[in-house]
Amino acid sequence: MSLRHFRTLDDLSSEELTTILDGADALKAARGKMTFPRPLEGKTVAIVLEKASTRTRLSFEVGIHELGAMPTTLIAKDTQMGRGEPLEDTARMLSGYVHGVVYRTFGHEKVETLCEYASVPIINGLSDDYHPCQLLADMQTVREAKGRLEGLTVAWIGDGNNMAHSWMLASAKAGFSLRIASPEGYQVKPSIVEAAKRMGAQLTFTEDPKEAAAGADVITTDVWASMGQEEEQKAREAAFAGFQVDGALMARAADDAIFLHCLPAHRGEEVSAEVMDSEASWVWAEAENRLHAQKALLVHLLG
Ligand code: CP
Ligand code: NVA
Repeated sequence: MSLRHFRTLDDLSSEELTTILDGADALKAARGKMTFPRPLEGKTVAIVLEKASTRTRLSFEVGIHELGAMPTTLIAKDTQMGRGEPLEDTARMLSGYVHGVVYRTFGHEKVETLCEYASVPIINGLSDDYHPCQLLADMQTVREAKGRLEGLTVAWIGDGNNMAHSWMLASAKAGFSLRIASPEGYQVKPSIVEAAKRMGAQLTFTEDPKEAAAGADVITTDVWASMGQEEEQKAREAAFAGFQVDGALMARAADDAIFLHCLPAHRGEEVSAEVMDSEASWVWAEAENRLHAQKALLVHLLG
């Protein structure tokens, strides 16, 4: 098989996405059983982190181990990367040691550079523009809750960030419609909107969270200030006033609507404690599904 990367959801066809989500369900069901598959026996996968991580690091480390491979995590600032070794050289060097690399970074172009110079599969573990691994888990969770993705309505309430961009590509790949409510100045990138629309995404935009939430099957949000935007926290809190997912907003959604959040969450900012800890909140299943969905992805790319 030719070299495959996972930079964004556009690296998968809709059929491949379904195969991965089905695989994730099967791996979840098989976990802990004697028949548990170990298709990556003898391999090694590096996890290279330029930003903080709890879930991505842990779910990949555990998943890689459970598939029979060895994970090795590099905190980039503690390596020669942190002292200026070129990414191009790092890509070539890593390719000589490991069978795949999970990479979390800032500018998305750095993911592209790593892919260009590496000869092993690269998985985007979050960039400033995309978080595709999270969307695999989110789509697995929606399927568990709703039995399908196609035809549903998802409402994104909040920042036009890496998660919002990935939901847009997911709409194109999985056939649900996506409403995005963001305050002025914090909308998704127009270039990614155009790309998602060309791929077939069903998108509508508003500055009114209530309009986005009306009758929706899934309500989802994320922090107001992402990693790298810490200094904008105060300004963002002001800009996002009125964008909290609270009980009143959830009441506008479908009766059986679920709430998703990639985590970490800030109760009292983008989501109220009431919603975060409600019956409608599927965030813990969503976090667990990172493990299963990424294992299915690893099997697809490295198996
Ligand atoms: N959702 C997510 O990617 O979490 P971490 O930042 O903890 O990896
Ligand atoms: N948008 C958030 C997601 C964290 C998992 C960030 O980039 O910090």
